[in-house]
Amino acid sequence: MSVTTSEAEKHAAATYAAGLVEDGMRVGLGTGSTVAPLIPVLAARGLNLRCVATSVATAEAAVAAGLVVESFDALPELDIAIDGADQIAPGPWLIKGGGRAHTREKLVAVAAARFVVIASHEKPVPRLTPPVPLELLAFGLESTLMRLGQATVRGGVLSPDGGIIADWTGAFDDPAELARRLDADPGVVGHGLFEPGLVSDVVVATGADVEH
Ligand code: 5RP
Repeated sequence: MSVTTSEAEKHAAATYAAGLVEDGMRVGLGTGSTVAPLIPVLAARGLNLRCVATSVATAEAAVAAGLVVESFDALPELDIAIDGADQIAPGPWLIKGGGRAHTREKLVAVAAARFVVIASHEKPVPRLTPPVPLELLAFGLESTLMRLGQATVRGGVLSPDGGIIADWTGAFDDPAELARRLDADPGVVGHGLFEPGLVSDVVVATGADVEH
């Protein structure tokens, strides 16, 4: 089976991030194809870790690899969280949520003393562009969509917590302004804009090089 450049880069970034994890740490595990290779690499280090997973898929993969996964309520503070991103712009500003787990991922990121973003070379961008994933409350959905104006519901998929997944599709120049607007709407449970203050480290693999 051939390994694509992108897969090799995801593996390289994940391997670097796994090296940041120390024995005894409480670890937040993100969701997606960049986090997927992190799980076996982390498990292979044989450390005594306690993990929180941001999705069922990540939880199942982590348990299968032999990692200890506990509920977020049992581990409300984390030493490190490691996750992927859909876009990484200067700041760093992120867009996350391609995998529908952005609300959980932000909660885990803010609970972690160190939030490490891992990516292959195509994720850095000069500026963020839509879509921005949203999680909306089902109650009052039409009202929320009318207020937002430029949001489209992703058919047939829910967040890991049963929220409606939609995407903000309008153009935006200022992610901070859009984040404030989305945060202010009572129908928006979460959105995929991650502000610079959340991010401790960005690890990007380009070919054989890992930049951090
Ligand atoms: C899931 C996410 C992912 O981190 C993001 O979509 C990147 O995924 P991938 O690593 O598969 O490219 O935010 O909600």
